[in-house]
Amino acid sequence: MDKLRIAGGRPLQGEARVSGAKNAALPIMCAALLTAKPLVLANVPRLMDVHTMTRLLEQMGVRAAEGGNGALELQAGTVGSPVAPYELVKTMRASVLVLGPLLARCGQARVSLPGGCAIGARPVDQHVKGLQAMGATITIEHGYMNATAERLRGARIVMDLVTVTGTETLMMAATLADGVTVLENAAREPEVADLARCLAAMGAKIEGAGSDTIRITGVASLGGARHAIMPDRIETGTYLAATAAAGGRIRLRGAMPGTLDAAMEKLREAGARIAVAEDTIELEMDARPRAAGFRTAPFPGFATDMQAQFMTLNTIAEGTAVITETIFENRFLPALELQRLGAAITLQGSAAIVKGVGRLQGARVMATDLCASASLVIAGLVAEGETVIERIYHLDRGYEALQQKLSALGARIERIA
Ligand code: EPU
Repeated sequence: MDKLRIAGGRPLQGEARVSGAKNAALPIMCAALLTAKPLVLANVPRLMDVHTMTRLLEQMGVRAAEGGNGALELQAGTVGSPVAPYELVKTMRASVLVLGPLLARCGQARVSLPGGCAIGARPVDQHVKGLQAMGATITIEHGYMNATAERLRGARIVMDLVTVTGTETLMMAATLADGVTVLENAAREPEVADLARCLAAMGAKIEGAGSDTIRITGVASLGGARHAIMPDRIETGTYLAATAAAGGRIRLRGAMPGTLDAAMEKLREAGARIAVAEDTIELEMDARPRAAGFRTAPFPGFATDMQAQFMTLNTIAEGTAVITETIFENRFLPALELQRLGAAITLQGSAAIVKGVGRLQGARVMATDLCASASLVIAGLVAEGETVIERIYHLDRGYEALQQKLSALGARIERIA
């Protein structure tokens, strides 16, 4: 199995282009199920999860044609079998995003329950509850959700908690429902707004996406559209945190700075100089970082998907940072690996107390999920000597061309068998 070997201790220097956002691409690909017409996408990242989603859609009868440079055309002329099997859902939880569109288009769906995952419990009760409020009948049998609905009807749905894919599921389902749906306590993540932009281009009537109240007026049918996937804010934040930790100066092109306020505030607190233009971010760091604690929260708060990367930054900082994780219960796994590199981290329930040590030392470590992998890569860039990261396949799920991009920024990084 592939490993990543990093020789640390070099600053990052140069330019990189931000890829399209995985967590916008996945729901938007599912939106193709809502119409018989082609959905032509640009800036789709080349990632394992995108490949898995393409396979899932193809298996339902969707025609997928990949062009160069992140172009992907999807057409669901007819939907042969509205099923998301366990084999695919277990490898990628985001497969549940087909539930809403399938139900709206076909009146039925059979989708495997996702089950647990390395970062904690991942229930879908809010997806189910919302669709039921729209008139769907959903039973759970043999690990599958079996959903049927003659035609979904609009409803006012107050979500018990903020859920990103839950909001996306209900928003997609509501586009073809009979009447008006209002989602209260909706997720405000930029990826929800990007999905809404794509749905609007397809003819959906949506107001308020990006705020906590989204109003969708159902239409009889949707058409084809062209849409460019928004830039990946998690990838952007990861490269910024990496440079703040390793030192140096980078310029990220094709970024969406307005989606990164919370992260940039922490980077400035840590001592980085940041300059923002329309779609570029420049970061310069020439000193040891200062500790910058934070608490994860739904957008516009600090993203849980950047928590581990910013924990690594704090391991070498001057001072002590308290990091509180409020979204998932098991997102401190990288802390245990970082300790193997010499980090001083104490875990207390949902908080991690990170006492900055001057330096990390390279060692063999193991990645447990996507963000954990990214945090260990940053640690490897900073550590003295060589770091080998095992189970690196997690990175291929979410970071396009990571190794090439980091190499171009001067890192000594290679994949080994
Ligand atoms: N939750 C429920 N019931 C539900 C849905 C969620 O209790 O029906 C809880 C979860 O257990 C969690 C919280 O609500 O405690 C938030 O979960 P959310 O539903 O927002 O997460 P998600 O939609 O499954 C997306 C991203 C994740 C990211 C989270 C939080 C996608 C495809 N995934 O997941 O990204 O961590 O939002 O921002 O958009 C990743 O990219 O690898 C990844 C894990």
